[in-house]
Amino acid sequence: MKADRLLEDIKSKIDIVDFISGHIQLKKTGQNWKGLCPFHSEKTPSFTVNQSKQIFHCFGCGAGGDVISFVSKYENLSFNEAVNLLAKKAGIPLTMGRIDKKAFQKNEQIRNALAEAVNYFTERLRESVPAGEYIKNRGIKKEYCELFKIGYAPSGWHNLLKHLRDSGYSDAIIKDAGLAVSGNKGPYDMFRERIIFPITSINGNVVAFGGRSLDNSTPKYINSPETVIFKKSDTLFGLYTAKEEIIRKDRVIIVEGYMDVIICCQYGFKNVVAPLGTALTSGHLHKLRTLTNKAVLVFDGDAAGVAAAKRSLSVICQNAFKAKVLLLPDNEDPDSFLRKHGDPAFSELMENARSMIDFILSVSRGEQTDIIREALTMIAGVKDVLVEGEMIKELSDKTRIPEIEIRQEYKNIKNKTVLQKSGSANKGLSGRNNEEYLLLSAVIAFPEKSGYVLSMIDPGDIKDKTVASLLNRIADIGDRKDLSVILDKADDQEKIMFTKLSVDPGFDLEHVDRNIEDCLRRIEKKKLDERLRLAEGSGDLKLINTLLLEKKKFIEGKRL
Ligand code: UTP
Ligand code: MN
Repeated sequence: MKADRLLEDIKSKIDIVDFISGHIQLKKTGQNWKGLCPFHSEKTPSFTVNQSKQIFHCFGCGAGGDVISFVSKYENLSFNEAVNLLAKKAGIPLTMGRIDKKAFQKNEQIRNALAEAVNYFTERLRESVPAGEYIKNRGIKKEYCELFKIGYAPSGWHNLLKHLRDSGYSDAIIKDAGLAVSGNKGPYDMFRERIIFPITSINGNVVAFGGRSLDNSTPKYINSPETVIFKKSDTLFGLYTAKEEIIRKDRVIIVEGYMDVIICCQYGFKNVVAPLGTALTSGHLHKLRTLTNKAVLVFDGDAAGVAAAKRSLSVICQNAFKAKVLLLPDNEDPDSFLRKHGDPAFSELMENARSMIDFILSVSRGEQTDIIREALTMIAGVKDVLVEGEMIKELSDKTRIPEIEIRQEYKNIKNKTVLQKSGSANKGLSGRNNEEYLLLSAVIAFPEKSGYVLSMIDPGDIKDKTVASLLNRIADIGDRKDLSVILDKADDQEKIMFTKLSVDPGFDLEHVDRNIEDCLRRIEKKKLDERLRLAEGSGDLKLINTLLLEKKKFIEGKRL
């Protein structure tokens, strides 16, 4: 209860419209405030904030929640970190705001241990002759070694472990930071005899490491395991050093490896990042999209590179990014290409990078119709209608097939993909159980009516699982007016539905009572119909008669 009171306290002191306005531009439109969503890229505002409910919801990507969810999503903080940050901002002393101070402190210790590990590794690099040789042979200049805080983990099983223990860190923290692993004889160093590449968050805090063997022994690279502060699928190597240049150039170069990032940077291409040996994900693009929505994807020119590029393009399209693709010749990667041919040659390749359509047309083999379908399937994933139109036109120009024919085929393909996608999280207020959404919506808009509504129906009778679980949560918190406390425990589906209904109730607020009665009646009627169907199936004449009578009364408007 103490924690709940803290959350309410924070929300009462920080107005969500004031707060979000500090980060993005909001305009009042009717009941709500609107702006461009910071969580996906869009040209027309669908990010909506409701001041009286203190809730935001994006109709484009489904993101939503209260001010705490906003901060944690926007600043990439855990729930507890977001609470602590807002508590500070609201002037609530943290001793009181100890919702989970332990978890917060633990994360702090993990961060500190990682920072200390960087110091340790960079010092070892300075001392080691073979490691120094390796760095020199790979052409990394001292300045860039320092910029990326490259280090060295010497051979031996307990070097860093001992150092961190001596600096006061517990084995538990060292392991939770991903720096040591448990063995039969106790923990030992995760990284041994490897060149160390620190992986940072967008703010430059070290969250993990990549380590390369000096002699090409396998595995060539190992990475830190995922930890509470490190999720591989949304972390990009080099993002911190590239950030400003990405904004300045309004473009990001995405390469495949650590060395590619470092060498590109050294040759003057500073807006460069790389995933950590995984495919490009929406998580990566979410990290980039506050900086730019334009990318050049650089891949090796072999079959694996082509396949990886195709996979990346579909992610690019789904996230409303624009991309060009550069396949490097002769099995080179950006690192080897730059060191062999220099930066003017690389610039030239960059300038001639292919558009997404060109890329698909040039690398796909087979019948032209199949290739066109492949391109159209990719376009069907595009979120931005303007880009969609441009791409269709480009496809028509380049294949010399009239746009009208291309569009015809596109319609077929699009219908198919839309069908595949229906039933997704962000569905609207239509559909079979519309009355259930509207009833929930009435309760969210008028929490004081929840007691009545819940006395009239049993959430167990609600067909839509998300509506049912939200009603159950509302029942659990009793007659409190601020329903948004349920968001703290809600799952993603529930959050999307709750925040959407909060900003867009979907019924006329003036006629809330009529809406509630309508919904209750329709739910009841459906229940009755279902019982009747069951009875008819079983052939129980007596029961059928009773139910028919009930139905008659019901339709005549008498409550049972
Ligand atoms: P590459 O195999 O293309 O290596 O892996 P590279 O980046 O060119 O490395 P160098 O030039 O030989 O040093 C690309 C990326 O895939 C991940 C790493 O992030 C690497 O930078 N990777 C690769 C691993 O995580 N583990 C591996 O064993 C290999
Ligand atoms: Mn390489």
